[in-house]
Amino acid sequence: MKPLAAVLLLLVAVPCFAADLTGNWVVRDPLPDGTFRTTYLDLHQEGSRITGSIRVTQFYFKIIVHKVADNGLAKTPPMGWNSWNKFAGRVDDAAVRGMADAMASNGMKEAGYQYINIDDTWEAGRDAQGHITTNKKFPDMKALADYVHGKGLKIGIYSSPGPNTCAGYEGSYGHEEQDAETYAAWGIDYLKYDWCGARNLYTDQEMRALYQIMGDALLKAGRPILYSLCQYGRAEVWEWGAEVGGNAWRTTGDIRDTWDSMTNIGFSQDQLAPWAAPGHWNDPDMLEVGNGGMNDDEYRTHMSLWSILAAPLLAGNDLRNMSPAILEILTNREVIAVNQDKAGKQGRRIAKSGDQEVWAKALFDGGQAIGLFNRGDAPAKITVKWTDLGIKSAPASARDLWAHGDLKLDGAEYSVTVPAHGVMLLKIAA
Ligand code: GLA
Repeated sequence: MKPLAAVLLLLVAVPCFAADLTGNWVVRDPLPDGTFRTTYLDLHQEGSRITGSIRVTQFYFKIIVHKVADNGLAKTPPMGWNSWNKFAGRVDDAAVRGMADAMASNGMKEAGYQYINIDDTWEAGRDAQGHITTNKKFPDMKALADYVHGKGLKIGIYSSPGPNTCAGYEGSYGHEEQDAETYAAWGIDYLKYDWCGARNLYTDQEMRALYQIMGDALLKAGRPILYSLCQYGRAEVWEWGAEVGGNAWRTTGDIRDTWDSMTNIGFSQDQLAPWAAPGHWNDPDMLEVGNGGMNDDEYRTHMSLWSILAAPLLAGNDLRNMSPAILEILTNREVIAVNQDKAGKQGRRIAKSGDQEVWAKALFDGGQAIGLFNRGDAPAKITVKWTDLGIKSAPASARDLWAHGDLKLDGAEYSVTVPAHGVMLLKIAA
């Protein structure tokens, strides 16, 4: 099941080739037992010179899947912070400590945020024994984990099933158990495992087996480590993510800090609702709230939608430096309570009319959270009919979760004018 190491392709002279062979090539040789040997060629042709690399999978392996035991984590969607959206490759030890200080002192910790997650670019190569090492931005990962734990928070890290990460750093390929042991020894509480570098070596059909290897390794390492799969929603991951031990799985490509990116992702999640449940969640990617590309109404829409979707709430802004309005959006406890509701049901779209959508999430106490979303560029009236929610008449009580006020409702429906790109988020009683 182990692919052979890559060998550098020699310089090949091909005087008679007019065609340009530059590109990624896959050659599959049938073997007598019905499996295949797969050869991956990454070629660069300049005139008659060809350079590049070649990898061969020794076996096109038959996937032997099993159910990885539940690690008992993430009974509600994970909440925390991740470095990528704001810092990308600039994250370092000082920034991580700064985020932990901020989260522990600005009310986020009390509101439920818990994980401080280091994304890509912390890695260096491996030592003589094969242990993963940190680069100079992270001089002592164990000390950093101790620092974050000292703030009453947890710490997360990032890797890939491939030989390299998306940003080109060292991945866990061939070292899965050893890396899981290293994370446990450092005191890591969360792993985001990003397909990226594996895509040149494996097919989507092999993904499940690769994610299972790390799921097994994390359990074997003996420390509770939340396992977050990141493979952009390929291969219907929601159907098998929980079975490889995943607590969350990305359902889409990367979010950007724009209205179009956020809404294209957020409003496309309806069909995935049945796959979310306590312990394992659909992940439409991290929050962009506070990164500057959207206005406060749009960020309220982002936060409301992610709460209705029971999505992980991983802030992606600089927590040391944000406006009171952004902090209030991130720490609105009435909205967070919708996200963290212990029934663990992901909300669904119940009505749509042009740019206006109504979404509803069933809550543990028998009530419902209702989002009236205006995706249009001008203020618009949105109506929710009680019959669309499966109830016969106006609910006994209702609460506006952004205005923090009670509403009196009667009649067969409720109408409200919602600002452009804005939301009205209600909780109605059973
Ligand atoms: C991928 C992931 C992102 C981030 C980067 C890091 O693009 O989807 O969330 O982790 O890799 O390189």
